[in-house]
Amino acid sequence: MPTYLITGANRGIGLELARQAAARGARVIATCRDPGHAMELQKAASASDGKIEICQLEVTSDESIAALKTRIGTQPIDVLINNAGIMGKDPQTPVNMDFAELEHVLSVNSIAPLRVTLAFLANVEAAKGKIAVLSSIMGTFGYNDGSKLAYCVSKTALNGIFRHLARELKSRGVSVVLLHPGWVRTDMGGAAATVSPEDSARGLLGEIDACTVEKTGRLMSFQRGEMAW
Ligand SMILES: NC(=O)c1ccc[n+]([C@@H]2O[C@H](COP(=O)([O-])OP(=O)(O)OC[C@H]3O[C@@H](n4cnc5c(N)ncnc54)[C@H](OP(=O)(O)O)[C@@H]3O)[C@@H](O)[C@H]2O)c1
Repeated sequence: MPTYLITGANRGIGLELARQAAARGARVIATCRDPGHAMELQKAASASDGKIEICQLEVTSDESIAALKTRIGTQPIDVLINNAGIMGKDPQTPVNMDFAELEHVLSVNSIAPLRVTLAFLANVEAAKGKIAVLSSIMGTFGYNDGSKLAYCVSKTALNGIFRHLARELKSRGVSVVLLHPGWVRTDMGGAAATVSPEDSARGLLGEIDACTVEKTGRLMSFQRGEMAW
């Protein structure tokens, strides 16, 4: 039974990834900031026949990461999914930027995934496992709308960090995939979004399945297909 560790698993895409991974027979360490209030995740865990274990994790906190590391110990992790992310508050345009918020968005979306990944790298290496990262088409250089600039550049930085990490980890048998989930109907994506969390998560899990060391370090759409940076 493979083990998945997922960040931000209490709602949105992360919750659906946890549900579907467990339904496929995986053991899921489903992390969230506030397990006591993660009602949907608690329901999913109750229905999972013990496959979903809920753990606390605030991805920007070294203390929180260390506590989870202590709890998990040396257990191998087959798939680490860095899903947690935020859009950030406005204003965040090239000519009107809230700099405190820009730093916050970079801290959650770009730096925390590396922080979490390095904390659990030995566990992923032990499984010769995979690291998946929720990126976005909004982080690509071809995306020409600057109205959510903090979010866009946080995903561009994320791509850069994990492309370099992928090269480093190839010889260690660990693969890395960056994922665009589509425009998904979650709190972040909004009600008008075109993709259901179910369809997105199904595509993302398929894309993670297909990732190998030979194909490491690519940006992939949930609908399969490599995307340009
Ligand atoms: N929805 C889309 O259309 C779309 C498109 C492209 C990429 N993405 C990416 O996909 C990922 C998931 O998005 P989503 O739509 O599911 O978003 P969402 O519904 O807003 O959920 C975000 C999740 O991230 C968690 N989170 C935020 N900050 C955190 C922190 N500091 N520590 C731990 N957890 C934290 C949230 O936990 P709390 O409940 O505690 O806040 C929540 O579980 C994100 O990385 C996002 O950028 C989404």
